Amino acid sequence: MKKILITGGAGFIGSHVVRRFVNRYPEYKIYNLDALTYAGNLENIADIESSANYEFIKGDITDADFVNDLFVKHQFDGVLHLAAESHVDRSITDPLAFVRTNVIGTMNLLNAVREIWKDNKQGKRFYHISTDEVYGTLGAEGLFTETTPYSPNSPYSASKAASDHFVRAYGETYGLPYVITNCSNNYGPNHFPEKLIPLMINNIINNKPLPVYGDGKYTRDWLYVIDHAVAIDLVFHEGKNHETYNIGGFNEWQNIDLVHLLCQKMDEKLGRPEGTSAQLITYVKDRPGHDLRYAIDANKINKELGWKPSVTFEEGLSQTIDWYLQNTDWLESVTSGNYQKYYDQQYQ
Ligand code: NAD
Ligand code: TYD
Repeated sequence: MKKILITGGAGFIGSHVVRRFVNRYPEYKIYNLDALTYAGNLENIADIESSANYEFIKGDITDADFVNDLFVKHQFDGVLHLAAESHVDRSITDPLAFVRTNVIGTMNLLNAVREIWKDNKQGKRFYHISTDEVYGTLGAEGLFTETTPYSPNSPYSASKAASDHFVRAYGETYGLPYVITNCSNNYGPNHFPEKLIPLMINNIINNKPLPVYGDGKYTRDWLYVIDHAVAIDLVFHEGKNHETYNIGGFNEWQNIDLVHLLCQKMDEKLGRPEGTSAQLITYVKDRPGHDLRYAIDANKINKELGWKPSVTFEEGLSQTIDWYLQNTDWLESVTSGNYQKYYDQQYQ
């Protein structure tokens, strides 16, 4: 039985990846390592917690001794590394937290696999899940490809870029069998409501102002999280060692247009008169260093591995809104406690 470690599996994307691997690969034992920070929630994977091929391990990747002991004990065959501090706005307030988890935490995992795989790398793989934000910002034209130079603008993207570089360097220097993917903005169920789409859905439900940064003309390329999990599965199994693949939705939206679309859909679903939610739109102070536009050229993964998004934005958004409306308990539990403090500081 192959032993596969997934880090950050209680978070947004990680929970969808863990579910897919546990259900699809009974021949693997899936270990989910997560520190359960504010962004990690065991509720996200409650449906698979008693599966025979699944084990949850609470632990912090910044603790090198803990990580080394864990790898020596379990001798993992593969690692899918998703654990990270992931929110740009939080990285502006506390950059060092991002260095600790995203850089040092990744280094600890790299050092641990370097040691346990030093004599036999056959069939082993370290898969580092990263972001398109490492490429910096686009102007009105063009797309990020796998050869676009790194040019990160936020502490978050700088920390992810640093970790990508270390993964690549361990491949070159120590022959680590690795693969990296850089994905665009995800959306879908279980997304923590500090990010644009779930924050807007939560605020619409609660009739609260919808804070749009700057002029709202910033552009993101949105991908349904389950399509990302499918791509991750494919790259883990069929991607080439020492390669990078860009993953994206071919689905660019300016923030303000997206917020209007959400308002319109939510009015329909909540039975509110058309135009009700849009009245909540409020332009607020811009994010410092705000990247104008992200857009991914996902042709490499399409041509080489046959992946493309399967869910249209229309379907994905509709399923996402339905999930939030059916899971108001989840929303309430993750927005109680420290969330309010974060929210007040961020949107004062
Ligand atoms: P998330 O913030 O929802 O989840 C992160 C998870 O990591 C949480 O469960 C958290 O408890 C855990 N974690 C944080 N610090 C940890 C530590 N020190 N030790 C162990 N666990 C820790 O993040 P997400 O949106 O699911 O993103 C997952 C990965 O995908 C990240 O590496 C992120 O950079 C990348 N990514 C995200 C997006 C996106 O749109 N969300 C897009 C591209 C790439
Ligand atoms: P976000 O979901 O934080 O993802 P990222 O910054 O990683 O792309 O933000 C997506 C876009 O939405 C980004 O341009 C910032 C903007 N935004 C707002 O306008 N208001 C908000 O309250 C948030 C959280 C984001």
